[in-house]
Order: sequence, then C-alpha cells, then structure tokens
Amino acid sequence: MKNIIVTGGAGFIGSNFVHYVVNNHPEVHVTVLDKLTYAGNRENLAGLPADRVKLVVGDIADADLVDRLVQKTDAVVHYAAESHNDNSLKDPFPFIQTNIIGTYTLIEACRKHNVRYHHVSTDEVYGDLPLREDLPGHGEGEGEKFTAETPYNPSSPYSSSKAGSDLLVKAWVRSFGLQATISNCSNNYGPYQHIEKFIPRQITNILKGIRPKLYGDGKNVRDWIHTNDHSSAVWLILTKGKIGETYLIGADGEEDNKTVMEIILEEMGQSKDAYDHVKDRAGHDLRYAIDSTKLREELGWTPEFTNFRAGMKDTIDWYTEHEDWWSAEKEAVESNYAKNGQ
Ligand code: NAD
Ligand code: DAU
Repeated sequence: MKNIIVTGGAGFIGSNFVHYVVNNHPEVHVTVLDKLTYAGNRENLAGLPADRVKLVVGDIADADLVDRLVQKTDAVVHYAAESHNDNSLKDPFPFIQTNIIGTYTLIEACRKHNVRYHHVSTDEVYGDLPLREDLPGHGEGEGEKFTAETPYNPSSPYSSSKAGSDLLVKAWVRSFGLQATISNCSNNYGPYQHIEKFIPRQITNILKGIRPKLYGDGKNVRDWIHTNDHSSAVWLILTKGKIGETYLIGADGEEDNKTVMEIILEEMGQSKDAYDHVKDRAGHDLRYAIDSTKLREELGWTPEFTNFRAGMKDTIDWYTEHEDWWSAEKEAVESNYAKNGQ
C-alpha cells in the first residue's frame, strides 16, 4: 500500500492517524481529503513532510472530486464526519449529509475503481449498556460489553447517521464485493481534540478560570482509549484485517464522567468538587464498553496507553502548552453551550 487517502485527516483522530502512518511507514504517501469544517485544522498536520502528505481541501460528498482522487489511490481510510452528539441534537442535517451521503459517495468511487476501503466508526452505533452496578454479574457476564454481534440500536442523530453509514458499507460488501473493513471504536482522548468535547472542554475551562460542567449526575460511563492506540489498530485492520469483517477497538478504559472530572481537577491542582452540574444531554447514553477480543486475538493488537491518569496528565500538559491552538474558539464554544443551559 503506497498511496492512501485519509478523509477527515485534519481532524482530531484522522490527523493522529496521518502522523502515525508518516512516523511508522516511510513507504506510504498520504492524501488528506478534508473540508476544514470548524473541527478541521491545518495546524494538526503542521511539520509533516510535504513530499509525503498532501492536503486537498474538499467535501467527501463531492462526487467528481472523490472520483478523481480515488482512481489514483490504493486505499481510502474514512474518518471524515460530523462527530459531536450535542451538535447533532441541535441540527441533524449536516450529520445526514456528511456521514451518510459523504460515505455513500466514497464507497461508490471505491466500488467503481476497486479500491480498498476502511470505514472508521463508533461504538455508539450499538446504543448503550446498563450501568455495571445494575447488572447481576457487575458487567462481566455474556452480552455485557459490545461485540461485533451486538444489534445496532443508536440513540442520537449522530450515532444513527454513523449506524446508517456502517450499514451502507455492509450492503456494498455483500452486493457489490466492496473491499471493505469496518472498525467501531470507543471514546478517544489525547492532543488535538476539539474543545467542544468533554475532556478538553473541562481542561480549557479550568485554564480559563471557568467552572467545569458535568451533565446530569455524571454516572454515565465511557470506555476511554488514547487516540494513538486507535491509530495503531486502524493500521493493523487496514493491512491485515479480513475483508467484510467488523473489528471493535477498545482498551478496557471504562470510567464514569464524575471520576474523569475529579481526576482532571486533582491533576490541575483544584478541589475535586469545583465543578457545576448542568442540564443533562437529551437521550444521553448510559454506558459504553468494548470487548476487543477479536482484534487482539485475530490481529495481535495491544494498546500501549493503559494508564488513564498518566494519559490525562499528558493531555492536560498539551492543552496547557498549546493555548494558541484552542483559545480563539473558546468563547464561541462556551456561549453555544450556555444557550442550551450547559
Ligand atoms: P473531528 O470532528 O475532530 O474531525 C472530523 C474531520 O472531518 C474534520 O477535520 C472535518 O473538517 C472533517 N470533515 C467534516 N465534514 C467533512 C466533509 N463533508 N468532507 C470532508 N471532510 C469533512 O472528529 P474525530 O473525533 O476526529 O472523529 C473522526 C472519526 O472517528 C469520525 O468518523 C468519528 O465518528 C469516529 N470516531 C470518533 C471517536 C471519538 O471519540 N472522537 C470514537 C470512535 C469513532
Ligand atoms: O464513543 C465514541 C464517541 O465518543 C464518538 O463516536 C464521538 O464522535 C465522540 O464525540 C464521543 O461521543 P460522546 O458523546 O461520548 O463524547 P463527549 O466528549 O461529547 O462526551 C463524553 C461524556 O461526557 C458524555 O457522557 C457527555 C459528558 N459531558 C460532555 C460534555 C461536552 C459532560 O458531562 N460535560 C460536558 O461538558
């Protein structure tokens, strides 16, 4: 695989993958196709060698552009998306347009030119799980984590648009022989994550002297994975995964939101209770948990970043040292949340 397209490669996780490929696979050239929405940032690709990484600013739903790029490539790794649940509750349309029509446009081009396609998706397509405390075996029993066999049951406009895109890919594999794999990953953290998201929002709130905001009672659980571990898993699936298969990516990082909030506050030298409870998210998923046995046993993947507190400290340091990367957007992000009582 010498030439790959990475859609959404100027966003949080896509840019991490581009750095991962450049650092670990010197034979590969990357074309980033990114619309540079509010969530995309050229700076995320700064410092990468111009002879190995090219940024094309454009829309994945632009069929002519996509066709021209796809016919010259060996593979497409599709990250581009509208990615934030709260935004999807306010205005679902861009989620339908990019996540569904955009994916359709890419897989049609890959089908036409017989190009390998990897579809990056989310564990949210499976809906949510009960809290461990409400389960008889405390979450260790059969069916208590997501697997590739868990039925789809998405809750939000975002997760349903991602579920729709996964189903398109599955249908294109079966009916047209699309050379595709799918991965569904849990919540990522790390540098370059947009400050609308939970962890960077709280870190940058504290840095700006704003009280952090916890939705509802904070009992909701997310299964955290460092974005570098997501990238290593996607590369492995792209190069060694079996066509037509779905792989779940997760690093056994379950934490409830209140605990994450307290870790951030402690690591930033604040009192553990120095935050506000704000209005809960509509339809808020309770718990996500990934069973990644298939990925580990079939492809030999293991995560590197398994100490969540250490990962949080590094992430706090990154936002502290890169205020120039996020500060221009802080006021607008917070005023948007404030309009919604969050
Ligand atoms: P992000 O919002 O940080 O980045 C999305 C990128 O896509 C941006 O660079 C944006 O400019 C680009 N983009 C948006 N619409 C586009 C369009 N129409 N055409 C071209 N580019 C467009 O998102 P992220 O958090 O990095 O997520 C990337 C992917 O990973 C998404 O598919 C998401 O569903 C998936 N995912 C995210 C997580 C997570 O925790 N963030 C977990 C699992 C899966
Ligand atoms: O599970 C994978 C998904 O993880 C990805 O598909 C999404 O693209 C990604 O955004 C993320 O979705 P979440 O909705 O879980 O992430 P978010 O950072 O928005 O919120 C994480 C948790 O924190 C969630 O339970 C809501 C809560 N929260 C969020 C914000 C922004 C708060 O308590 N306070 C906040 O200010």
